[in-house]
Amino acid sequence: MNSQSNQRGQWASNIGFILAAAGSAVGLGNIWKFPYLAGANGGGAFVVLYLLMIVVIGFVIMLGEMAIGRKTQLSAVGAYKKLNEKWAFAGIIGVIVGFCILSFYSVIGGWVLNYIGKYVTGGIVGSEAGAYFGSFISSTTAPIVWHFIFMAMCCIIVLKGVSGGIEKASKVMMPALFILLIGVVIRSVTLDGAMEGIKFFLKPDFSKVTISTVMAAMGQAFFSLSLGMGAIITYGSYLGKEENLEKNALIIPAIDTGVAMLAGLAVLPAVFAFGFEPTAGPSLMFITLPSVFDAMPFGQFFGILFFVLILFAALTSAISLLEVVVSFVIDIFKIERKKATIGLATIIFLVGIPCSLANGPMSDFLIMGYNFFDFMSFLAENVLMPLAALSMCIFIGYVWGVDNAIEEITSGGRYKFVFKKFFILMIRYVAPVLIFFIWLNAIGVLPAIAKVFGIQL
Ligand code: PHE
Repeated sequence: MNSQSNQRGQWASNIGFILAAAGSAVGLGNIWKFPYLAGANGGGAFVVLYLLMIVVIGFVIMLGEMAIGRKTQLSAVGAYKKLNEKWAFAGIIGVIVGFCILSFYSVIGGWVLNYIGKYVTGGIVGSEAGAYFGSFISSTTAPIVWHFIFMAMCCIIVLKGVSGGIEKASKVMMPALFILLIGVVIRSVTLDGAMEGIKFFLKPDFSKVTISTVMAAMGQAFFSLSLGMGAIITYGSYLGKEENLEKNALIIPAIDTGVAMLAGLAVLPAVFAFGFEPTAGPSLMFITLPSVFDAMPFGQFFGILFFVLILFAALTSAISLLEVVVSFVIDIFKIERKKATIGLATIIFLVGIPCSLANGPMSDFLIMGYNFFDFMSFLAENVLMPLAALSMCIFIGYVWGVDNAIEEITSGGRYKFVFKKFFILMIRYVAPVLIFFIWLNAIGVLPAIAKVFGIQL
């Protein structure tokens, strides 16, 4: 067992694991998605719901995934298989989710790289920000070249292995990201007129809440914590038996949430201060913010800081996605890390090409009404990810059993499990029911039922 786990690699230290797992969690989800979702869903009320979701289900599912990974010392598919042959499918869903997400995540990573290049060479004129973004993402070759560079960066880190690549990279990028983010927050909240944005972000107005706000908050909590795609199972599998899982499962969501809140404070006050709308959606970071930077003193400097920090966040998340797929292939097919990494990075890069083209030349190519980019995101995040998380709850709650999970979480009774009762209640009853509803909503069943009964979701 041990020689096998050493061959697979292990974290050099628990802090290395925490930074890598936090690196996986902190990503485009926090800095790009969270502020625009909060902006589009009424600000503070969304934030409160999001925090609730993190506390109610995020912690429990993260802990469950860590326990499965560390118990078996195997990545997602191997882990389920070892505990119960019939449940390998739950891991397979996770690997597919990782694969799909990385294919479009890397395209967005490429956009970020392009923006850094643009800022280093002069920045973006505010009035042209919309046109610039539109023409860049819809062009044919440039976004693919940047997507290639982003994927190559991930590949180099993952090639170096768990402690030599992922852990080292996270140890540098995560603290750097934090410092850069603090710098941008200070700038943003001290702008004239920033108070309006701070209020919008922090003061909940529950009259704005609908069922879709709740669903959006739940989906975002999963995505942001990297749950339901085997990432935490895989990272947990490189963790030594002596580490305290409960503590880790409290710290990582805390870091992730802290960064999301800081990102909200970096983006929304600046948006308000310059009189832009917070409801711009996905383009908030790529169009609205460049206009904000253009309008503020030292905007080019803050533009560089901001997009570099997003790059760090995106890279540490993307390497975890690549690692999910790579470790699956290493564990199951016993292929060398080098071959597995280069081969899979190439395949994911190729699948990313139609994702990139979907914003331009291939925009008419639709699957179920979605362009290829949106289809990959819908399939991974809305259909498969909740299924993987739901399967995990049922697996721990009723198949592998909570007692076995608790045995692993406490390292065989070595640690006190403070939230044990809460964990059991959530993993067996509350989380599966909630996730089942997100899933029904996402695949369109709930909206259809609501329509029949004339209910406004
Ligand atoms: N959590 C990452 C983010 O917020 C995305 C991600 C999802 C990373 C799943 C790894 C696994 O951007």
